[in-house]
Amino acid sequence: MKLAVVGGGSTYTPELVDGFARLRDALPLAELVLIDPAADRLELVGGLARRIFARQGHPGRISWTSDLDAGVDGADAVLLQLRVGGQAARNEDETWPLDCGCVGQETTGAGGLAKALRTVPVVLDIAERVRRRNPDAWIVDFTNPVGIVTRALLTAGHRAVGLCNVAIGFQRKFARHLGVAPEAVSLEHVGLNHLTWERSVTVGGHNVLPQLLAEHGEAIAADLHMPRELLDRLGVVPSYYLRYFYQHDEVVRELLGRPSRAAEVAEMERQLLALYGDPALDEKPELLGKRGGAFYSEAAVALTSSLLRDTGDVQVVNALNNGTLPFLPDDAVIEVPASVDARGAHPLPVHPLEPLFAGLVAGVTAYEHLALEAALKGGRGRVFDALLAHPLIGQVAYADRLTDDLIAHNREHLAWA
Ligand code: G6P
Ligand code: MN
Repeated sequence: MKLAVVGGGSTYTPELVDGFARLRDALPLAELVLIDPAADRLELVGGLARRIFARQGHPGRISWTSDLDAGVDGADAVLLQLRVGGQAARNEDETWPLDCGCVGQETTGAGGLAKALRTVPVVLDIAERVRRRNPDAWIVDFTNPVGIVTRALLTAGHRAVGLCNVAIGFQRKFARHLGVAPEAVSLEHVGLNHLTWERSVTVGGHNVLPQLLAEHGEAIAADLHMPRELLDRLGVVPSYYLRYFYQHDEVVRELLGRPSRAAEVAEMERQLLALYGDPALDEKPELLGKRGGAFYSEAAVALTSSLLRDTGDVQVVNALNNGTLPFLPDDAVIEVPASVDARGAHPLPVHPLEPLFAGLVAGVTAYEHLALEAALKGGRGRVFDALLAHPLIGQVAYADRLTDDLIAHNREHLAWA
């Protein structure tokens, strides 16, 4: 089996490689290629990746290249984990929306739209080149904003599945609270990428969510920085990205008072790359645990394995709606449990979604449709439409100003601007 990772020079890569090494029975890799335009980072990350494989006795070959076409040649699956413009562009996404009193975040609100506009054309170009070389290869997309990027890929007819670690993160956390193995826990996870709720938590055929909330509600709420009463009221566990909606103004005040996440991550990356350069290091360093990508490798291995080995098991992924949530268009991309086999991801049926959640999901889906239109066709008017449609923006004056700011801060990445 050959796997290629686009954005392989990311400081996240050792997390992924550690997973490939530990979980080699699920995904026996003969060859792993790391692809990245940043040759200096590739050297550091690639060197550590080889040492991780060697330490764990993994026989697979690891190589790296900045030549995308050569790197993906013969790959059975291609993982996308790139970030157009790096942390510097992310820092912009997290900053300028705050001037309007709007949340500054890399996947939610105006910052998320900016990221989508920068990213969709690049990802589509990569996917096209993968398809030309290797029409049967699967694309696993971890590149944010995952919902919009996956929708772009699937609309263009690519063999793609979108992946996020929020669901697997909850599964692991709940398993710890309950004192059971993670595999024993299945989630009724529903919504859109970074806009989801856990509606039930099943262990041994029983929904233990009420018990979980009763016994561990305080810890779960504290972890999400949400009020315990909210979780009890909703009777579900929202993902922490719902904070940007439910506690928008509070989050804006917090963000205004501290350095951006991009700045924190940039500093961590400097330290991580220095560690990666140490030839004595042959495991993923602890510092990597401070990034948001926990269990990303487990999720990526499980998904890739199911696609390539046709297992048909159930995983939470991003896939076409196709009637699963009947109030959304078929071509919307939703994040739900799906059975995954060699033909792709097939969402399982979902209980009707209550209005409290369905309203937000419908609104953000409309925004994602318009965001994709703007990313594909460009133009100030389309950017404005997407921002006006976003449930966190919605007013003409804000949409107008954010449109100008978005274009001004991203001109070098937008072919049409
Ligand atoms: C979580 C999200 C990812 C996001 C990451 C950010 O893992 O699911 O979509 O990219 O957090 O983590 P970072 O360490 O870059 O802030
Ligand atoms: Mn995510």
